[in-house]
This record gives sequence, C-alpha cells and structure tokens, in this order.
Amino acid sequence: VVRGFSSSAVRNVVIKNVTIIGGGQMGAGIAQVAASTGHSVTLVDTSDDILKKSIKTIEGSLKRVVKKKFADKPEAGEEFIKKVVQNVSTSTDVESAVQSSDLVVEAIVENLKIKQDLFSRLDKLAPPHTIFASNTSSLSISDIASSTSRQDRFGGLHFFNPVPMMKLVEVIGTPATSQETLDSLLNFSKVLRKTPVSCKVRLYVSDASKEDIDIAMKLGAGHPMGPLELADYIGLDIINSVIEGETKDPNNPLFNSSDLLNKLVAEGKLGRKTGEGFFKY
Ligand code: NAI
Repeated sequence: VVRGFSSSAVRNVVIKNVTIIGGGQMGAGIAQVAASTGHSVTLVDTSDDILKKSIKTIEGSLKRVVKKKFADKPEAGEEFIKKVVQNVSTSTDVESAVQSSDLVVEAIVENLKIKQDLFSRLDKLAPPHTIFASNTSSLSISDIASSTSRQDRFGGLHFFNPVPMMKLVEVIGTPATSQETLDSLLNFSKVLRKTPVSCKVRLYVSDASKEDIDIAMKLGAGHPMGPLELADYIGLDIINSVIEGETKDPNNPLFNSSDLLNKLVAEGKLGRKTGEGFFKY
C-alpha cells in the first residue's frame, strides 16, 4: 500500500514498486512523479551514464517544483528532494529490476520490434501479478502486448510531456486487457495526482465518454474549454449550420453531417441557451 498519500478517492492501491524502463525525457518524468507520490521506483536504461543524467534531470525538475511549493521553507524543500531521490534506484540490469515489480512502465525508443523484444523478455522474468504498460505515442498496444503471455495484464499508460507539469494520462485498454488491470492503472494515475481518461484504443474518440473527450482536450492540448463544452456554449444549432455550410469532401467522413447533432437539435437541446445540449445546465 502506498503511504504518504492523502486522497480518499483512491482505494485498494496495490502498486508500490514501479519499474520504469527508459530514463529519457518521458521515463525520467514518470520516475519523478511516481517517486514524489511515495512509490519505490527502479529506473532502467542501457548505461550508467544515461542513468546519471536521468537523476540529474529529476533533481533539476524537483528544484523547480520546490521553489514554488516550499517557497517559505527552503529546508523542507531540500528534505523533500532528498526523500524523493531516495525513492529512485537505477539499474542497467532489467532482469533484477523487475523481480519485485508491481508495475512496469516502458518508455524506451518508439520501435515496435524493440518494444516487443523487451516485453517478451520481461514476461519471463517478472512475477505473474506484475502489470505491464507502454507509454508509446503511436504504436498499437495490442501489437506490443502480443509479445507476452499476459495480455490481460497489459495496457497503455500514455503520459504527456513534460510529465511533472501535464495533468493528463491516457489509460488504454486493448480488447484483452482485464477490468482489474484497467482499474489498477486508473488508480495508479490518480495516486500520481494526474487526471486519467480511459480510452479503449487511443484516437477512437467515438469510444470515449464526452467528459473524457473534454478533459483530454483541456489537460492534454491546453484548450480552455473542451470541444463539447464549447459546442454547447456556441449553440448546437449554430455548430450544425456551420457543418452544413462547409465545403463537402466526399472522401472524408469528417465533413458528413452528424446524426447525434441533428438529433439533439431536433429535440431542442441546443446547448447552454436551452439548458441542455451535450451536457445539462
Ligand atoms: P528518449 O529518447 O528521451 O528516451 C528513451 C530512453 O530509452 C533513452 O534514454 C534510451 O537510452 C532508452 N532505451 C532505448 N532502448 C532501451 C532498452 N532496450 N532498454 C532500456 N532502455 C532503453 O525518448 P522519450 O521522448 O522519453 O520517449 C520514450 C517513449 O515515450 C516513446 O515510446 C515515445 O513515443 C513515448 N512518448 C514520448 C513523448 C514525448 O513528448 N517525448 C510523449 C508521450 C509518449
């Protein structure tokens, strides 16, 4: 159980030991937030020199955090940095690094074959309960997971750059990912004090909830309002006439009129001005 964490919204947290593979931009950031929230982190990369740089990056980033958070108490800030850094150990030996791991987060080079080779090795080395997650930006989680025999305990955990600043985490399940695994990944993200959104397969927005779409665009893309909230604000009848007025491209279904929008408009649900659109007001 993770200690030193105060959110009552998170229960049954089982992830304590986290192994992060790849200590680059993303891996170092993920290690920092996991260590800052009381996890025991093992950061793995291919050489000690790279790992030294990763720790330097983490320390530099923590100094910036502390400057704001402990502005009046520099000593407490120093103490915090010391504690967090103590929670991170480094290793170039992936075998020993996953032996007591509850969760492996992979953030190595964006190459399917290399990721598959890594996970196929880890699958034989890690305990049965260990959950595997990839931070890939563009590869299919199913393709990566297919290299293992634990596809039910495999998901995507997609952080945004810079990790300590960006609140959004996309939690991605494949058709084989179990509900327990998804719950653990969602819980873990909350323990990191991030805002997870759940995606069946990333970019298939039609699978996502309207709340999650808005959260993703606000926290991931920095929009002040989510697209659905904004559509309600503008008025769905207006949005509809804009879509209808657009030049049509028969090869691109994105220009088609929207059945959902037509239905809402026909029902008089025009957004804020009528008290209901995508959301109720
Ligand atoms: P990076 O190049 O900064 O770091 C990758 C690290 O992995 C390097 O330190 C490298 O030495 C290490 N590495 C490579 N192969 C390894 C192996 N077999 N075992 C152990 N370590 C290995 O890359 P970055 O930007 O951190 O990206 C990592 C992953 O995160 C990629 O899959 C990328 O698509 C994804 N990602 C990147 C984002 C970004 O903005 N940079 C945002 C979200 C996801």
